Amino acid sequence: MCLRPPVTIEIREAAEADAAQGCEVMQRSIRELCFADHQGKAEILARWLANKHPDAFKGWLTQPGNSLMVAVEDGAVLAVGAVTDRGEITLNYVSPDARFRGISRTLLAELERRAAERGNTICTLTSTATARSFYLANGYAETGPARHNFGTTSGFPMRKMLK
Ligand SMILES: CC(C)(COP(=O)(O)OP(=O)(O)OC[C@H]1O[C@@H](n2cnc3c(N)ncnc32)[C@H](O)[C@@H]1OP(=O)(O)O)[C@@H](O)C(=O)NCCC(=O)NCCS
Repeated sequence: MCLRPPVTIEIREAAEADAAQGCEVMQRSIRELCFADHQGKAEILARWLANKHPDAFKGWLTQPGNSLMVAVEDGAVLAVGAVTDRGEITLNYVSPDARFRGISRTLLAELERRAAERGNTICTLTSTATARSFYLANGYAETGPARHNFGTTSGFPMRKMLK
């Protein structure tokens, strides 16, 4: 009988070596999970995906005031998130293969922890329609009318008071 050791999810700072996998995760997450937002429209997808490429990813690693994190399991990147030193969550994408396993909730908690470490008492973000219920369930509240992110009509500004 062959027993596999238990695999655990690690949330850590992203590195240059994560760029290719991290971008693949973000691209698939947008294309496959966010249909409610882009509705398959090529012009919206083109704008949204334009910076989800390894060169941009590597730039985010050294961007002042930016924390880029990944969730990794058994060497594979399963989710990518980012938060600024001013408490804005700018990325939060999970692989379609790893949805509903609590990975994004864990990653979000780490991003919030980083924001708090940087002196913030509030986190802000603009949610997709896809993630709206997820953020509401994780303590965020909507703060205003929808924004037209990447040409969608479904960017919901939200914020959460950090404990
Ligand atoms: C939204 C998203 C980040 C959630 O990722 P996930 O890894 O599946 O979420 P988790 O497994 O951590 O979910 C935690 C909880 O939220 C719930 N949840 C997750 N997505 C949900 C959704 N779309 N609607 C309702 N509940 C949701 C889960 O069922 C789970 O509930 P539980 O605590 O009762 O078990 C993911 O669907 C995603 O990447 N979507 C595409 C990209 C995107 O929209 N990103 C947000 C950019 S602002």
